[in-house]
Formats: sequence, C-alpha cells, structure tokens
Amino acid sequence: MIRLSFRLLWVALAVGVLMSTNVFAQQPLKIGLILPMTGPMASTGRQVSAAVKLYIAEHGDVVAGRKIEVLLRDDTNAPETTKRFAQELVTNDHAEILAGFGLTPLAFAAAPIATAAKVPMIIMSAGTLIIPEKSPYILRTSFTLPQNTAPIAAWAPKHDIKKVFTLVTDYAPGIDSETTFKRVFTANGGQIVGEARVPAQNPDYAPFIQRAKDAKPDALFVFVPSGEGAAVMKQFAERGLARAGIKLIGPGDVTDDDILDSMGDAAIGTITSHFYSAAHPSAQNKAYVAAFEKANPGMRPNFMSVGGWDGMELIYEVLKKNNGSTDGDKFVAVAKGLSWASPRGKVTIDPRTRDIIQDVYMREVKRVGGHLYSVEFDRIPEVRPDGTY
Ligand code: PHB
Repeated sequence: MIRLSFRLLWVALAVGVLMSTNVFAQQPLKIGLILPMTGPMASTGRQVSAAVKLYIAEHGDVVAGRKIEVLLRDDTNAPETTKRFAQELVTNDHAEILAGFGLTPLAFAAAPIATAAKVPMIIMSAGTLIIPEKSPYILRTSFTLPQNTAPIAAWAPKHDIKKVFTLVTDYAPGIDSETTFKRVFTANGGQIVGEARVPAQNPDYAPFIQRAKDAKPDALFVFVPSGEGAAVMKQFAERGLARAGIKLIGPGDVTDDDILDSMGDAAIGTITSHFYSAAHPSAQNKAYVAAFEKANPGMRPNFMSVGGWDGMELIYEVLKKNNGSTDGDKFVAVAKGLSWASPRGKVTIDPRTRDIIQDVYMREVKRVGGHLYSVEFDRIPEVRPDGTY
C-alpha cells in the first residue's frame, strides 16, 4: 500500500514537471529592447536594433525551446521615458529580459526597475564605467570609456605627442574618458595644456576647438558620443588645426563607422584606440559586415551594432545553459566568465564586475578602396573595464 502510494506520488510529480516544462517551453520569451530610435542619438538605436535583428535572422528565433520575441521601444534619449518603458515592459508585457540602453543616463534610469523585478538587464551601448554597479542584474556587452581611452593615452607620449588639449562632452562617459586620459597620459610623461567640457545638449564645438588651437598642443584629444564626430571634424578642418600641426586623437567614438565615410579627407590621420572597426580584418568580421550591409543597404555597422550583436550572443548562450530559464540570479551566475568569439575579437564577461573584457586596437583613419576606415595597426589584448591591461 505504502509502496503503491509512493509510486503514485512519483507519477504525479513526473507529470507535474513535464507539464510545467511544456507550458514554459510554449511561452514566448519577450526581450524588451529600449533604444533611442529617433532624435539626435537615433544612429545608436538604428545600429543596435539592426544588429539584434540580424543576429536572430542568422541564429533562428527559437533558443532552448523558447520563441524569442523582441519588443522594441523608442525612448528618444529621454531617461524618464526609458524608465517608464522598462516598468511597462516588465509589468504589463511580461518581458523577461531588458536590453539596449543607448546612453549612460538611460541605463541609470532603468537600473532600479531591473533590480526590483530581478530581470537581467543587458547594456548593449552605454559606456560609463560604474553602470554595472547600479544593479546586480546588469551585464554589459558594449565597452567602457576607460577601456577605450587608456591605450591611446599610453601610446601618445611615446609618439611625439607631449602636449595635449582635452575636449569631452560634459556628462558621465566624457568625464570618465577625460580623467582616464589625464591620468595615463601624464603618468607616461605627457602634459595637459588645456581642457574643455562641451554641453551635451545642442553642442557648438567651434569656440572650444578655437581655444584648443590657441593653446598650441601637439594633439587635440576628443571624446564625443557616437554620431557627433562629424561636427567635431568639420570644426577641426575649418579652423585649420591640422595645418597648424595639431593631431586629432581619442577613443574611437569620434571616428564612428556610421558616419566616418562622410567626414572627408579631414579625418585622415586621426589616431584612436577602440574595440571595434568595420575594417577589423578577421573572417568573422568580414562576414558580419557583409551580412549587415546586405540587410541594411547604405549602412555600415559601427561599434554600437557590435554591442547589440554580442548582447544577443550572451542571451542565447545563457538561455542554452539554463534550459530557457531567465531567472535573474541564475542568468547572471551563468553569464559570469562566459567568453566567445565576436566580430570584434574575443570577449569575456568579467566574473567580478559583470562588465566586458576585450581587446582594444590602435587605429589610423585611412582611405581604403575609396572609403574611409579606421585601420588597425596594433592590438592590446584583454583590456579590463577599468582600463588596465
Ligand atoms: C554613453 O552615453 O554611455 C555613450 C554614448 C555614446 C558613446 C559612448 C558612450 O559613443
């Protein structure tokens, strides 16, 4: 009798487990993708969403038995809108993962929602170092500004650039970039001869670039967010800095592949350190660029797109290992230490910070086959999020 009821109990349990896995498998897995799709930062939204779409087209929309559904929301680069969408996606739409986050203030705004809902939050774009500290459910597949800035800061003083004027956009990633540059550049014997922080809203670069020219530096160091590089380059050319012997250097945001080819000859010779160039000469990247350009005529993938691509890779790999579960704690535990081959090179999720460890390249803008590209000439392997290597 006792044996029989034990058997019945086992059968009941087994049926229960089967049913629950079945129900689970049939539920689509919704990813809330929040990006600036319109407004001045729309290029980031366009790039990231195109890469997410391409990743799903190439890898299929079912992973670990779960159908992936992307719910794209345009936050227009307004933090309160990002926060409202994050909340609505989690509570009304039952999104199990939040992703995107085109700029730092947008990532900051959504972080408390991820924490309260225990939902994984994948930073595909924003680059301020402290972002992952804002929620234990944050994982980053983009980059940090210290990571992209430290290599050029160490390179410059060894290549006849002793005096530098720094110009950055006046918000968190700009401050990260400026402080990293100053620290590493001066530790390597460089001297800062002037500095400027340009307002993030409706920036006018002309007066700042004139001030930089008047300070007679060997180089102008620039960080501006993706999409702004062309406006800087225009002033750099019009005010004759190159003719005055002043070089342009920085992390690679200023020579963003989305707009680099439209910048003209003024961009040639710009030296940057960065984690991604569309001209990265690996077979995987060549295939990525070709597929991206085919799916999006007239567009070239930039560094933001790769953050979106690798964000999807991270999601797919974790889901496979967790049999389709999106439990926030399990998701983060499995993501820690994951490593994979990206169009940019090898990347790893740092188990300590949940941030990205990646190679950073030294590059120079050149004309290749009639088009402007950042051509890599050196590689700094496995740079940590804080810029050390
Ligand atoms: C950011 O807001 O974190 C950000 C945006 C664009 C960039 C870099 C950083 O190119």
